[in-house]
Order: sequence, then structure tokens, then C-alpha cells
Amino acid sequence: MSVKIEDMQSIHKKKIVLGVTGGIAAYKSAELLRLLTKAGAEVRVVMTPAAREFIQPLTFQALSGHRVYTDIFDAEAESAMDHIELARWADLMLVAPASADFIAKFNHGYADNILLTLCLASAGPIAIAPAMNQQMYASSSTENNLITLSSRGTLIWGPASGEQACGDIGPGRMLEAEELVQLVSLHFQPGKLDGRHLLMTAGPTREAIDPVRYISNRSSGKMGYALAKAAADQGAKVTLISGPVSMQPPPGVDRIMVESAHDMFETVMQRVDKSEIFIACAAVADYRISQQSQQKIKKSSQVMQLSLTRNPDIVASVGALDSPPFTLGFAAETENIEQYAAEKRRRKNLDLIAANQVGGGKTGFENETNEIFVLGENYRQRLPLASKTQIARQLIDILAERFLAQQ
Ligand code: PMT
Repeated sequence: MSVKIEDMQSIHKKKIVLGVTGGIAAYKSAELLRLLTKAGAEVRVVMTPAAREFIQPLTFQALSGHRVYTDIFDAEAESAMDHIELARWADLMLVAPASADFIAKFNHGYADNILLTLCLASAGPIAIAPAMNQQMYASSSTENNLITLSSRGTLIWGPASGEQACGDIGPGRMLEAEELVQLVSLHFQPGKLDGRHLLMTAGPTREAIDPVRYISNRSSGKMGYALAKAAADQGAKVTLISGPVSMQPPPGVDRIMVESAHDMFETVMQRVDKSEIFIACAAVADYRISQQSQQKIKKSSQVMQLSLTRNPDIVASVGALDSPPFTLGFAAETENIEQYAAEKRRRKNLDLIAANQVGGGKTGFENETNEIFVLGENYRQRLPLASKTQIARQLIDILAERFLAQQ
């Protein structure tokens, strides 16, 4: 792959901290620094003590034209810019290579070297390019660390698969410098949904039985809130109609809290005509209690019967509008996932449907991870098991591409 610098305009004048940790791939960081600098970025390099076993700070100093940060207590470097200032200065922190040790410590909030301190002190975007032996990468500890970091918003770039320095073959190789520069460039490009109005639902609904009891479901809001964040990150103006969850709204997202399916229906229908895109991720109760009791119901007989009435189907009502927005629905299935989801998509007149398996395993309700089948007209794409943050980013990419193609 060759990088055309004219395609890398978005990197020009961006301030990047390049973190280098200890690994054989550290030699590729020198080329990465050279390409970033060539594309017009201002780069400061920060090395862990282990990185210095593989490559000399002088190499990075010569290529960046700046002092390299290696020691948390280095008074000379601190006088140039202290580490808190450096964390604030960066438009992006890119750690490449990111060793298994760094990933574990970063995930657990360690701050025992200058790079970890900086990561902890940074409120801005952080991308890491994992590089390690394939067995270390496959270990459940590394897998869990990467899933947690990704769910907190860290960008995970790579790894690639192939022959490793130790002779093993498998995933764990750091992406090539040119691939990383392209990802940096994409990161700084304007959002694919810039200025687009996106309305969405997330979380569960609650159907009151009496003033203290209700019927609900296990939705935590994690999938929907991750989608709201991914859409806002792509520049969309997001209005999130949320059922009761304990999550905070993502920055920049306008959130409206509701309780019942009926409230959610009304709130969506009042706003949908101003929306270009609609996403229905909420687990909406299909039925409500026919006769809600105004007082707390007392125990009387051994068996109690509740009569239920159908709720309006929100996404189907949006799909039935004269000119509906571009609509992505969800399908929560326990069996025949793709077949049932395809039928739902047609019945509810949706552009896309994201089908997930519920009722156990690592997908669906409450879990940090999900696996999705995205179905559309002559379209099928599987998004393999990953954090809900990662799945949300991929889903928003697909949605944006198909929505823009229709304009
Ligand atoms: O919140 P989490 O814990 O992260 O879990 C995520 C999730 C499992 C809730 C999510 O990924 C998901 O699958 N959401 C849809 C749940 C659901 O209600 O699926 P369904 O197959 O019953 O409904 C199909 C579609 O119709 C959905 O888009 C749903 O929002 C919509 N619907 C359903 C009923 C109704 N009355 N109105 C609706 O709009």
C-alpha cells in the first residue's frame, strides 16, 4: 500500500502524541512518525522504559525535531511542556505499538510510566494499535481488556494477522505505518452524518400495573446509547428518546426520558417529521395493562390475572408514514434470527434491520458485547462479536453509506 500525502489533508496541522511501548514492532513507529510529519502533523513522541530497549529516543527526536518524553520525572522535558499540558495539547493520542502489558495497565488505570500517566490525564481521543504474540492476543485477559477499553471509547486499530517475529502465525501484528496513517486521516475527516437530524429510541419501556409495580424487560440501554454516541461522533444531531436506564447521555446528544411504550410512541411521532434518519433500538413492550390500578393492588386470591392490550408499534408507524425517514430497526430473536428479522424488515417497511440473538450468551440484552446481522434490500452483512461501542460504529458506517446513497 502506498500513502498519497495529498489524500491526507485532514492530518495537516493536527497535534498528535505518538506513544511507543516495548515490542519488536517499535521499529515501525519511526516510519509512522515520518509519514505523519510528512502529512503536516505536529508530533510529540512519548516512550515507555520498555520501548527504549527496542529503539533509541534519538531516532524519534531526529524525525520529529522535538525532544522525546521518556521519563515522568524528567525536569528538562517537563519545562518544555508538562505531561498534563501535553495530554491537553493533543488532538489525538496514538499508541503504536501497544503491547499486552500497556493495554492491561491502561485498562486498569495504572500511571507508573509517562505514557500511562498521559493516557489517564487525557480527555481526548486515544487510539491504540495492538502488537503482540498471537497467543497473548488470543488470551481472554487481553480480549477482556480490549473490549472494556473499546466500550470506554478507545479506538482499537488492528491488529493484522500474519507471520510474527517469534515465528508464530496469527493475529497480533501491528498494522503497517501506512495503514495507521490512513486511519488517522479518516479519524480527522468530517463526519459522514454532518448536520443530519437523527431520531432514535433506546432502553426498555415500563408498563405500570399499579403505582408501585410494572412490566418491563432486560434492556440496559448500552446498545442504543453506543449508537447515539457513534452517530454524534459522525456529526449527526441526535435526539435520543430513552426508556428508564441508569446511563448518562453521550456528550452533544439531546435526550428525552420516557417511561411507557405509549409515551415513547407519542414523543417519537411528535418529532419524526423533522428527522432524516430514525433508529429503533428500544425494547418496547408489545402489551400494556388494560386497566391500570390507581391504588396498590392487595394480595387476595392465589392466582392473579392481568389483562393486556396491544401497544402501538412505533417503528412500524414510522415506516407507514407517507415519506418516512431512512429507518434502521432492530430484531431481538431467540431462533431463526435472519429469517424472522427479514420478515420484520419487510412487514415494518424498514430500510435496514439489525438482528441480534437474545436470551443468553454474549449478545443482546445487558451484555457489553453483541453480534449483529444487518439486512436490507439485497444486502446482508455480519458484524462479528465485538464491544457494543465497536458494533455501533460499524452499524453507523453502514447506515451512513446506505442513507447517503439514497440522497
Ligand atoms: O439495551 P441493551 O441491554 O444493550 O440490549 C440491546 C437490545 C437487545 C435491546 C437491542 O440490541 C435490540 O435488539 N433492540 C430491539 C428489541 C426489540 O424490541 O426487538 P423486537 O424484535 O421485539 O422488535 C422489532 C423492532 O420493533 C425493534 O426495532 C423495536 O424497537 C421495534 N418496536 C417493537 C415493538 C413496539 N411496540 N414498537 C417498536 O418500535
